[in-house]
Amino acid sequence: MPYVVRSWSLPAELEELVTAELWSHGLLGCQTVDGAEGVLAVPGGAAPAPEGGQARVRVVAWFPAGSAGEPDPLGSWFAEGVEPLGVEEAPDEDWLAAWRERAQPFPLGRSFWVDPREPEDDPARAPLVPPDGRRPLLLPARSAFGVGSHESTRLAVELLEEAALPGRDVLDVGTGTGILAFAALHLGAREALGFDVDPAAAAAARENAARNGFDLLVYAGDARALAAGVRFDWALVNVVPELILPALPAIAARVDGMVLSGILAEKGAAVLGTVEDLGFVERARAEAGEWVAFRVERPEADHLAIPPIPAALDLPEAHGTFGAIPGRDDHAEPSLQPRALGPARGGVRP
Ligand SMILES: C[S@@+](CC[C@H](N)C(=O)[O-])C[C@H]1O[C@@H](n2cnc3c(N)ncnc32)[C@H](O)[C@@H]1O
Repeated sequence: MPYVVRSWSLPAELEELVTAELWSHGLLGCQTVDGAEGVLAVPGGAAPAPEGGQARVRVVAWFPAGSAGEPDPLGSWFAEGVEPLGVEEAPDEDWLAAWRERAQPFPLGRSFWVDPREPEDDPARAPLVPPDGRRPLLLPARSAFGVGSHESTRLAVELLEEAALPGRDVLDVGTGTGILAFAALHLGAREALGFDVDPAAAAAARENAARNGFDLLVYAGDARALAAGVRFDWALVNVVPELILPALPAIAARVDGMVLSGILAEKGAAVLGTVEDLGFVERARAEAGEWVAFRVERPEADHLAIPPIPAALDLPEAHGTFGAIPGRDDHAEPSLQPRALGPARGGVRP
């Protein structure tokens, strides 16, 4: 399908707020270019007008076809220094094709080996053999977020690898490709449910589940669609705070621990304050560049305090179910309620 591409020049400090707002206007994807003269100039657009020394960025955003005549979604920001640069129709292109052609498998955390290539690219290609006992994650780089190359995903995976996951149930909020749910299932989680407000992401996660041999329950929608009373041990939340904080109390009420990523370092203290108010304490944090991630747990959640899996080579065997963890009889019953969630179950297919 063709797209409508809009671009704006704006003060750099507004970038996050503005892109968060664009998602509520049907945004399909966006890119930010440093400097008002960024390389993604939209033909026909007005020249950006730098303001005396103030750092500005160019935001280029893709919307569904047919939306070109709609009012500018950032109209209410014009008084704050946001300037529209142009609107145009763009043909349907596989933006990631060139990258994918060069993409090669790469390590993720201590335990995983991500293959972002198209499975059908080269039928004669030798099967993937991850080194060092790593687990394969087959995630063709398409439109859904989460092939493991972004810092926020990497930080979340690092924190997951140190978490008490064997036999636990996981809610993957903003699942994207499903990468965090698959990582959790590989690390021994018993069941995983993923959801994403982007229907294309939910579809990709479902496809990737089959590709990776998992029965992952996925839906397109937000936290409000979760059945009342359904609980999980962990929530995995790699979503920028601007988009997920409103839903966080409802998510937090269902879990005993959370991995929170997608947080700019400057927002870390505020996010941590919010989750502490919800009854959680920080257990671990990971940082990379401008990003920070936290693992938080309820202080009374003793059942999460089991030793983490020590090394990639000691991962549980990826066959059968992970329900029976020696010495974990206290948590033998699934905390997911099958009637509320439907018949699909997470875990590795036998
Ligand atoms: C940064 S990506 C994370 C993808 C993947 N979980 C990962 O870690 O790589 C954030 C995802 O959250 C989704 N999202 C944004 N707001 C959401 C909300 N309120 N509820 C559920 N999903 C949301 C987006 O569509 C996007 O796919």
